[in-house]
Amino acid sequence: MPAQLPPLPRLIAHRCGGVLAPENTLAGLHAAAARGFSAVEFDVMLSADGTPVLIHDETLERTTNGIGRVCETPDAVLFSLDAGQGERIPALAEAAALCQQYGFLANVEIKPAAGHEARTAEVVARFVVEHWGFGVPPLISSFSPEALATAKRIAPQLQYGLLYESVPADWLQQRANFGALTLHCAACELSDVVLKEAEAAGVPVLCYTVNDPGEAQALFARGVASVFTDRLDLFA
Ligand code: G3P
Ligand code: MG
Repeated sequence: MPAQLPPLPRLIAHRCGGVLAPENTLAGLHAAAARGFSAVEFDVMLSADGTPVLIHDETLERTTNGIGRVCETPDAVLFSLDAGQGERIPALAEAAALCQQYGFLANVEIKPAAGHEARTAEVVARFVVEHWGFGVPPLISSFSPEALATAKRIAPQLQYGLLYESVPADWLQQRANFGALTLHCAACELSDVVLKEAEAAGVPVLCYTVNDPGEAQALFARGVASVFTDRLDLFA
């Protein structure tokens, strides 16, 4: 897989299908496709059995009817939970299959539980190399520098994005260290200085989470390449 980005769509469905389905579920991927989205973002964490699954929080309570930490919950329990509207927590393998079926550009956000940064990145990177065999290769990002560095070491041929809330002053140095292709940050934290630096370096900037089409237009006018949105219903 070449470390080259496909053309970035302006709109990326956040946590699979945003508000159209329970977050980080296969129903969200179907909904994103039905709305005509060509790119999706989702969060990946390891179960107690080391299976990469789609979930945002370290704990189960907010998005499922389970309790406790995801990283301490075995697959047999995890996959029996209701993640909303009868949806299950998906395995990364299931999400990848749908991404390939729909031709999505996927932004796989490695979301390690605390203390599991390297192991989570290792599993995700190996999964992508071994099983994401066709279709558009995913763009991998993480708030965890350790996770990003580990994934990059294991799979230097994949595509990486730097992910921050607020972009640090030394981001260009970090970009060089990680060999990252894109810069992801909170829309409300994006400065014109960073935008100028990104433009000069040829780095596409992707902003989350933008739920107002007017705000999205303003960001595009400033030079932002793409926005992550929950409001698929307002954009498509
Ligand atoms: O990857 C962009 C965005 O998803 C980061 O924030 O908390 O929604 O995973 P969060
Ligand atoms: Mg995310």
